[in-house]
Amino acid sequence: MLAPNEGLSILIRDLIHERLGLFFDPARLEVMLDKITPLAQAQGCRSYIDYYYQLKDTDITSAYWQAVMDALSVQETYFWRELDQIKTLAETLVAKWFQERLRPLRIWSAACATGEEPYTIAMALIEAGHGHLPVEIVGSDGSPAALVKAQRGLYRERSFRTLPPELRSKYFEEKPDGWQISPAIQRRVRFQRANLMEEPEIVHLASSPIVFCRNVFIYFSPNSIRRALQVFAARMEPGSHLFVGSSESLLKLTNDFELQELGSAFAYVRKGKGLFQTP
Ligand SMILES: C[S@@+](CC[C@H](N)C(=O)[O-])C[C@H]1O[C@@H](n2cnc3c(N)ncnc32)[C@H](O)[C@@H]1O
Repeated sequence: MLAPNEGLSILIRDLIHERLGLFFDPARLEVMLDKITPLAQAQGCRSYIDYYYQLKDTDITSAYWQAVMDALSVQETYFWRELDQIKTLAETLVAKWFQERLRPLRIWSAACATGEEPYTIAMALIEAGHGHLPVEIVGSDGSPAALVKAQRGLYRERSFRTLPPELRSKYFEEKPDGWQISPAIQRRVRFQRANLMEEPEIVHLASSPIVFCRNVFIYFSPNSIRRALQVFAARMEPGSHLFVGSSESLLKLTNDFELQELGSAFAYVRKGKGLFQTP
């Protein structure tokens, strides 16, 4: 296939941006094309213009778009990453929730990649003595390939860079091709595919009182972030907590959340008096 001209590259880039939220600036257009070209060839497209129209006319939930998501997904993640927020959850927020009500607490790890984040939450809750409480942990991601790995629960050395060795021995079993997470942790997390740009796929999950959406907005444009935040804000009850990555800031992007310091961690709290607030 001949390389596309700049105008066509931008058309494809904008379509991907609209459907997946991912934004490739001019310096990274080449990277985007390198990743999607094998998909276009596998589809039998003879030119990028064919590929553009195929993408444009195909439903976002099709295997075709899911292959694009898999190809562009950056699944950099590891256990015990940015732990301060998870410690705040395990040591403060969970206790507050169950002091005030009996109903189960749902925690959503949006863009969980290969599962290290929701499994970290499950381990941290057990370590904090909350293993018996009715907490539902849901991990979602737009990439089906990432979710297959998350569900399998078999990890290589890279995933363990900050997990204390004693916790690796406690919650994982060594296998010839990696470390298998224990079934006791695995059954605490449910995984599902959800594209953050597709409102119907996230409205239900967005009503979770605790949402982790970390290290995905760095790949989005400000407009895509606003689109996701509008759905979150419409569904999250006042007082619900949204955790983003330490290099991500929402301050210029939303008026619906207030940045709060909770011990050594920061969270965006849905404005209004509500959940997790002591009267
Ligand atoms: C760097 S990982 C973040 C993993 C984890 N949250 C963490 O902080 O370690 C980014 C993930 O965002 C996912 N992603 C990118 N665009 C998405 C979208 N539109 N909807 C859902 N997930 C998306 C990618 O598939 C990838 O797995």
